[in-house]
Amino acid sequence: MNEVQCISTLLRESTRDRIVKVSEMDETILSLLREKGQAHLIEHAEMLSPEEQQAFEKSLTSIDWGFFDEIAASDADDEDVSGELSESVVLDLSDRAPSLSDAGEQAYKDGQVAVVMVAGGQGSRLGYSGPKGCYSIGAVSNKSVYQYHAEKVLALSRRYQKAVPFLIMTSAATHAETKSFFESHEMFGLESEQVSFFQQGMVPTLDDQGKVLLSSKTSLMCNPDGHGGCFTALVREGLLERLKRDGYKHLVYLQVDNILGPVFDPDLIGYAIQESADVITKVVEKTKPEEKVGLLVRRDGKDQILEYIHLTETQNQERAEDGRLRYRWGNTAMHYWSIDYLWDSHASGYHLPFHKSRKAVSAYADLENKGTGGNKSVEGIKHERFIFDLLPRAGVSLGMEISRELEFAPLKNAEGADSVETVHELTDGLYRSWLQAAGASTDELTRIEVSPLLATSQSEFLETWPKRTEKLQGEVYLD
Ligand code: UTP
Repeated sequence: MNEVQCISTLLRESTRDRIVKVSEMDETILSLLREKGQAHLIEHAEMLSPEEQQAFEKSLTSIDWGFFDEIAASDADDEDVSGELSESVVLDLSDRAPSLSDAGEQAYKDGQVAVVMVAGGQGSRLGYSGPKGCYSIGAVSNKSVYQYHAEKVLALSRRYQKAVPFLIMTSAATHAETKSFFESHEMFGLESEQVSFFQQGMVPTLDDQGKVLLSSKTSLMCNPDGHGGCFTALVREGLLERLKRDGYKHLVYLQVDNILGPVFDPDLIGYAIQESADVITKVVEKTKPEEKVGLLVRRDGKDQILEYIHLTETQNQERAEDGRLRYRWGNTAMHYWSIDYLWDSHASGYHLPFHKSRKAVSAYADLENKGTGGNKSVEGIKHERFIFDLLPRAGVSLGMEISRELEFAPLKNAEGADSVETVHELTDGLYRSWLQAAGASTDELTRIEVSPLLATSQSEFLETWPKRTEKLQGEVYLD
């Protein structure tokens, strides 16, 4: 049997769903790869030893080759920024009515709210080898990012005596470590049934000719399919259906790397109920035209997130009558989703498009064309889906202004902006303000951290703190 026959036999013999689909699409991997413009992989396979081939075959069969049809049919056209721009409807911080929070609280009490957190990213900018969630971020406690979020969900579950579903999206890059991290920490006190780990898809990383790159001699290079993979994976894993069946109506969506992203947000849920919203995007005000942030805007009457580079200079500078920037609402990547809306989008057959980005990657190159080679840095093309592509098709999409200091502490980089240092400054500043509101002196405090199990907001803190009397100095962790 030659190498190519060996691959195709293996594919046909396999019983995995995806592979069956592959062989249904075409007789052999040979023609499949040719059809998808990937004949270079056949040439590569022919140069491998039988053992290497086996490993390579495994990698080939892990790919959903339908990806190529999808990108051919529905690649997002990021360059198309035509259409009339207008402002989105955004609830300003100063306009939040107290009645919102009552309606929102009732939904939490009634067990209608679930939380989804996306944690499948590769976190390359942070330069940490494990999943970002395992990173120790507690300024005093050293607790991990995952513990921080899990304790917020635990505090919420205790508050209403309801095990709030906590859905964590991982990827091949983060799944095993995330799961074992939670398990080895006894789920941080959560019930194991309330936590669901679900994996997003992986898609091939391409070169600029559209050919799949290799990450090693025997494996194809893949990347997670973007935070939008969350929608696809929630459906594929049956989680969306389960939430709907179990009577959940509202989904709070956050990214693992926003340490302060709240899971208990009665104003958000209340606003969604009041307006029958499909989606709400939490936004912060951009005050300088040059601030590089994706913006919530309307294009041809439909909400969408537009990268600042896609606004013209005039649009970027344009001011409203009150002197504020006309297009000023910066996306924080925190959303409310109506579960019915997500379900209807799925039921109507909607697929999120892929966007391309170019990144330096370390790819295996068969330098001498004899099966020997090594890795070198090349420009790879990653395809990713963005969750906010679900905005334009929503019947009711709104924005809600939040206070950066209270809810937004992103961890992206090893140093500089959005780094460990800025997260520590932001959490310290927030907890200090709670203490000051409670009348405590913070002069002798060098660092302060409050456990989400003690309080997740100033009002919760004020309910608890007056009962405490100790003098605070140095580094303090309140739990
Ligand atoms: P980022 O866009 O910041 O990407 O993700 P990243 O992978 O975490 O970091 P870099 O760019 O490699 O440094 C924003 C959020 O979306 C999640 C991330 O885990 C993070 O919470 N995400 C991103 C996914 O869950 N899957 C993806 O495919 C991409």
